[in-house]
Amino acid sequence: MKRTHHCAQLTKADLGSSVSLSGWIDSIRDHGGIIFIDLRDRMGVTQVKFDPAENPELGARAARLRPESVISVWGKVEGRPEGMLNPSLVTGEIEVDASGLELLNESETPPFPLDDAGGDKVNEDLRLTYRYLDLRRPKMRKNLVARHRATKAIRDYFDQQGFIEVETPALFKSTPEGAREYLVPSRIHPGQFYALSQSPQQFKQILMVAGVERYFQIARCFRDEDLRSDRQMEFTQVDVEASFVDREDIYALFEGMLKRVWSEVLGTEIGTPFPRMQFREAMDRYGVDKPDMRFGLELKDFSETFRASSFKVFQGAVASGGAVKAMNAKGLADLTQGEIKGLEEVAKSLGAKGLAFIRVEGGEWKSPIVKFFSEAEKAALASALDIADGDMIFFAAAPWEKACAILGRIRLEAAALLQKRGKLTLRPDDWRFLWVVDFPLMSYDEDTKGYVATHHPFTAPVPEDLALLDSNPRAVRGQHYDVVLNGMELGGGSIRIHQPAVQKKVFEDVLKIPADVVESRFGYMLRAFTYGAPPHGGIAFGLDRIVALLCGTTSIRDVIAFPKTQKGQDLMAGSPTHVTAKQLSDLHIAVVAPKEPLA
Ligand code: AMO
Ligand code: AMP
Repeated sequence: MKRTHHCAQLTKADLGSSVSLSGWIDSIRDHGGIIFIDLRDRMGVTQVKFDPAENPELGARAARLRPESVISVWGKVEGRPEGMLNPSLVTGEIEVDASGLELLNESETPPFPLDDAGGDKVNEDLRLTYRYLDLRRPKMRKNLVARHRATKAIRDYFDQQGFIEVETPALFKSTPEGAREYLVPSRIHPGQFYALSQSPQQFKQILMVAGVERYFQIARCFRDEDLRSDRQMEFTQVDVEASFVDREDIYALFEGMLKRVWSEVLGTEIGTPFPRMQFREAMDRYGVDKPDMRFGLELKDFSETFRASSFKVFQGAVASGGAVKAMNAKGLADLTQGEIKGLEEVAKSLGAKGLAFIRVEGGEWKSPIVKFFSEAEKAALASALDIADGDMIFFAAAPWEKACAILGRIRLEAAALLQKRGKLTLRPDDWRFLWVVDFPLMSYDEDTKGYVATHHPFTAPVPEDLALLDSNPRAVRGQHYDVVLNGMELGGGSIRIHQPAVQKKVFEDVLKIPADVVESRFGYMLRAFTYGAPPHGGIAFGLDRIVALLCGTTSIRDVIAFPKTQKGQDLMAGSPTHVTAKQLSDLHIAVVAPKEPLA
């Protein structure tokens, strides 16, 4: 036996027992000739003592060991002397007095410290290059375990609710519906391609036609998107679909799932039902469809106030159908020039023409624009924004959605600046779940001058709005819902269209997809719907995002064993790579190198 116990097991109850342990050398210390090793395995750490006075040969071998080498040791469990106890460890009252040692494998000196604090300080690229070492850190191990617990809680929950897990293909067909797809060339059909599944959306709807009624899957999805801290090119969805349900059934089902996950992983009871907010209200008050509800700094609308203003920037925005929005960043009057510049850059990156502000200091409104305001305009601002000394007011004048989005971002930046100053504390465990509902079914794309589905083209309109589909698609609300937690979109879904005629109408009359393209991309689905499709709906959650929040991080890379970098690379194995000319020719593919290097 390489071991009788794991490294977080032995206590005073085991005093005098003969034991053997195996693991990695976490640290090694020489105290006046006596060697102490903290031996680590996946469960924890146990102190092992080598006393050269008892066994010189063993002591000498122990002294030559290096951190991260793998060893087996055996010996007797002893109590630690007074003053040497470590109450923060399960094994903190004992040590193993070694009588034997086997070096199973020697380790090179790791390129970075493997404790939590040390590892957090090093460059993430280095951690990803040596991911197997990074994953030895207690924090990373905890994240992997949390992910397992969450996944298991989810599987158990759906099983008990009568759902079955069905696997669907990763190799699907190209049906562009949102993000860019990854294409996979077919060797036996020259010039033809599969697309990696962006989500099991179409298959899960087909499974409803197939009579499965209650489907779920922990599904890998692939999207060729710009990567961010909460986005990976391959990620995992908790994907669900059910028949004969309405929105209320879905809300209750998923509140139950999240309650179960939080309870099993963190031992925390979250309150249900979650509050709900209409998309329009979320944009109006928070400037985003995934509001972080842990703090205020709400946006206010002053379009009416400035409709006839002599400040032309604001008056003009309203005259052209837009809005004037403002936000009081309470307590931020002490922003530096540099910080204000930074905020302006952020606003401009979202298409703002400027970021007007008022600094409220010493009873005075300091701002280049206040001189244009009438007394009535100032009074309206002062009362609606509750303006006091020390405040900083920001304005955005633009089309409504853009004005909201600009200030929504400034709101988040302001919260970060307040946190930096110790004026606001956002606790990661202040769990503010929210359903965002009543999204518009269609959004208008100024570039293409056409409609695009806000969620995806399978989402059903709210029944009362169905008649507007022809006359005013923009006014139609979709039966779409998102779950938001602390500013992150955890999941989204909808009740689906199940009548083939309505689905065809959305594709052809609203989205203006030519009939032959509809037939080639979605014909099979429309056909399936003619054979008795039950009313159905579902949702998909980002598992990586759920686990990240459970683990107190906002980067999903921290909860994925082998993530890609922002540039889509696997730094450990080294992908992507070039392939041989033979491989390409087998696939009937020629590579055309870009003329300019990609940015
Ligand atoms: P949607 O596209 O909103 O819906 O995706 C559902 C959830 O998946 C997560 N997610 C991601 N996580 C990490 N990296 C990514 N690149 C990424 N993209 C999405 C998010 C998101 O809320 N088929 C529909 C669902 C449905 O209608 O049932 C869908 O895929 O947490
Ligand atoms: P201007 O008259 O263009 O110099 O703008 C006066 C102030 O208003 C400057 O601080 C600009 O940053 C700001 N500003 C200009 N356009 C907008 C806008 N659309 N929304 C908010 N602030 C603006």
